[in-house]
This record gives sequence, C-alpha cells and structure tokens, in this order.
Amino acid sequence: MSSTSFPNGFLWGAASASAQIEGAWNEDGRTPSIWDVATKKQVRHGETCHTACDHYHCFREDVALMKEIGLKSYRFSISWSRVMPEEGKVNEKGLQFYSDLVDALLKNGMEPMVTVFHWDMPMWVYKKGGWLSERIVPLFRDYTKVLVDALSDRVKWWMTVNEPGCFIMNGYLQGVHAPFKRNYLALSKLTRNCMLAHAEAVKTIRQYAKQKPMVGAAFSTGAYVPKTDSVEDIEAARKKSVEIGNGLMANRWWMDPMILGKPVKAYGIFSSKEKDMAEICQPLDFMGLNIYSSMNYGDWGDVEQAPAGIPRNSLGWVIDERVMYWNVRFIYERYGLPIMITENGLAAHDTMSTDGKVHDPKRTDFLCRYLKELKRAIDDGIPVLGYQHWSVMDNFEWAEGYDPRFGLIYVDYATQKRIIKDSAWEYKKIIETNGARL
Ligand code: NOJ
Repeated sequence: MSSTSFPNGFLWGAASASAQIEGAWNEDGRTPSIWDVATKKQVRHGETCHTACDHYHCFREDVALMKEIGLKSYRFSISWSRVMPEEGKVNEKGLQFYSDLVDALLKNGMEPMVTVFHWDMPMWVYKKGGWLSERIVPLFRDYTKVLVDALSDRVKWWMTVNEPGCFIMNGYLQGVHAPFKRNYLALSKLTRNCMLAHAEAVKTIRQYAKQKPMVGAAFSTGAYVPKTDSVEDIEAARKKSVEIGNGLMANRWWMDPMILGKPVKAYGIFSSKEKDMAEICQPLDFMGLNIYSSMNYGDWGDVEQAPAGIPRNSLGWVIDERVMYWNVRFIYERYGLPIMITENGLAAHDTMSTDGKVHDPKRTDFLCRYLKELKRAIDDGIPVLGYQHWSVMDNFEWAEGYDPRFGLIYVDYATQKRIIKDSAWEYKKIIETNGARL
C-alpha cells in the first residue's frame, strides 16, 4: 500500500452512453437513432440496442448500485432523439428521464457529468445530412440549449462530443460504425462540421448555464510508450504520439484546432482552415481523455504486430498500463489543460460463477495497474481531476454487440439482473482510501 493518495475531491466515477445502456428505443415519444436502424449484418450476432440494459426503466436500481460501489461521479450521455424526436420539438417525457436521473445521482452523493453527443445521432438529423452538412451546427446548438435549460441548474460538468475521431473515422470513413459510410473524400468537411458544432455547444453552455460550468470534450487518444527512460527515447515517443504519423491523426487532427486554434494538414487536406480557428477554438476547462491501449504495435487499434502471448483484452487490445502515464503526460505537455480520464477499462468474457458472483480478477488487476500509472502523472504535478471507469455496467459494444463486457456491474441480458463484480468491490476500497490502497 502506498502512503500517498490522490488529490482531495478527485472524482472517482464510472461512465456509460445512452445507446449502449438505455433501451426503450421507441418509448415515450423517442424516435430512432442511426444505431437503432443498424441491420443484422452490421452488428455481431445481429444484435440490436433496442433493449440493451433497460436502464431507462431500471435507472433507480442502477443508481443504488453505483452508490453501493461508492462512486463519486457518473458520466452518462443524452439520447438526442429522446429529448428532440424531430426538428424543433422538445419531448418533455424524455427530458424528465434525465432530470430524474440527475436528481437520483445528486441525492445519492454523485456528481452528474453529461456528454451531449455519444454517437446516437437521431435519424431525422441524419436525413438532413448529419455530419456531412453544415446544417448540423445550428441543430446541435439548439439541442445543447434544450439540455442546458433543463439540467444546468444541477449539472456542472459537460462534454460536448465523445471521441470525434472515432465516430467520424469509423462511421464515415471505414464504414464499421453507424451510419456505415465510406466517404474518405469528405473527411475535411466532416471534421470541420463536427468542430463547429462542438464550438457552438461550448458557447451555448457558457452562455446559458445556471451555474459556472466545467466544459470539455471527450477525446479518443493514444500514445507510444517510450522504449526506455532515456531522453532520446522519450522524445521519440512524444513525437510519434502528438506530432507525426498515427499520433497526428489520433490526437492533433482534433486537438490542435479545438484547443490550440491551429489548423492541421495531413494527407494533403486540412482538418479545418485558418479562417475557422477563432470560432472552433473555444476555451475549455478540461480535456476528457479515453485511454485504453498503447500505439506501440502498429496502427492505432491494429495490434496485429504485438508479440505472441502479450496481455490483451477480449477484443484483442493490448494491455499496457504505462500508456496511462505517457498519454496523460504527452497530452498535458502539448495542451496544458487539466485532464479528466473520461474512459478506461477492460473488455472480458465475464460469467456468473456457481457461487452466484462474478469473479473478474483480470479487470481488478487492470484497474490497479492503470490507476497506479495515473498516480505517477499526478505525482509529476499534472492536474488530473478524476477517473471515470468504462463502464459502469456491461453494455452494447456497438458493432461488437454484447459479447465484450466492460462493466463494473454484470448484466444478465435475459433477466436484466445485475451483479456487482469483484473488481467493483475492489474499486470501492480504492475510492474509500482515495487511492492510498493501490
Ligand atoms: C469508446 C467509446 O466512447 C465507448 O462508447 C466504447 O464502448 C468504449 N470506448 C469501448 O470500446
């Protein structure tokens, strides 16, 4: 047990996203999102997110479980089509769900953290062009305003978009996520529209929030772990992480314009142009980082070249906790904003044992390893505001369906029964000691 602990007020939490847990896809006035209409061929085993964890109906039980784990914060996203089922129409029942969720969290001592957009674009927005059309910018602003008006009296933490790199690259370039398009030539336009929408949302939150907000975005990020601790190796890893090659597309493509106001050029195209910088670069209070795997073994996400037998999660992603330290450090050195870990976690094929419990030692080990590396970054003096484990409960892992289980809470999808996993009980102890237990 180390003697030092994490900063006072550190937000120990967990995260989720609307499409991945809520279900109730066509109830109380909600209209479909691009993920609701994914075909059987587009999602593994032909699964859908129509019911998922039925969190829409079970949220009070879920909040009680979060309290039992001792979470101090909970990051969740809003389903745009639940609160705005068509253009210009606000669905009070949809808003009520989120308002009740926020009340339940606060009543149980948890800080609500809202992600405005976590991939489930309403079909009606998609039909108007989605990210391909600049029309999304005012639509996104209006949607954000609805949320701010309804929730900002109680919600302080806001993230505009989750992983723009992922939903644009996977959804519009590689065609593996909704809306399953391959449109490489539109990359500049998609990026620009997305950044402009983010900027409008930041301004809207600042203008209308009923309390001083903490505004950020959650980025998928990546970094190389230096081969050794030599100055040269660290510098080489830093360059590859935040300046050139894969690091450029994973990080700079989005972060340089949004945070530094610098346009980025790669593959002969711009992520956005100089003339848009004043608009796109809105001051942020923090950067949300979603950190999973290192980029040492080939392209980001492609870990084919990793040595045989290297630790991996059930999706094949290499487990290397050192990335937590280096990713946080390289990003902080370049962008200088306080950091919130908005996601980090492990996919596994967890099962219920004969004793009725879910033993997941690999996740417990993962959690401790990654948190210790996060502590190293904090000890270096980097302001890290909190850690939101992905995920609060097993859920719909997009095109991978329900097989990869990321949760602290196990979900039996046939019965919707929940079981707190062993890793969550360990997390509880870590939280209770503010990290000193690690
Ligand atoms: C990134 C995404 O934000 C989240 O939706 C996803 O489930 C996790 N990472 C795991 O892949």
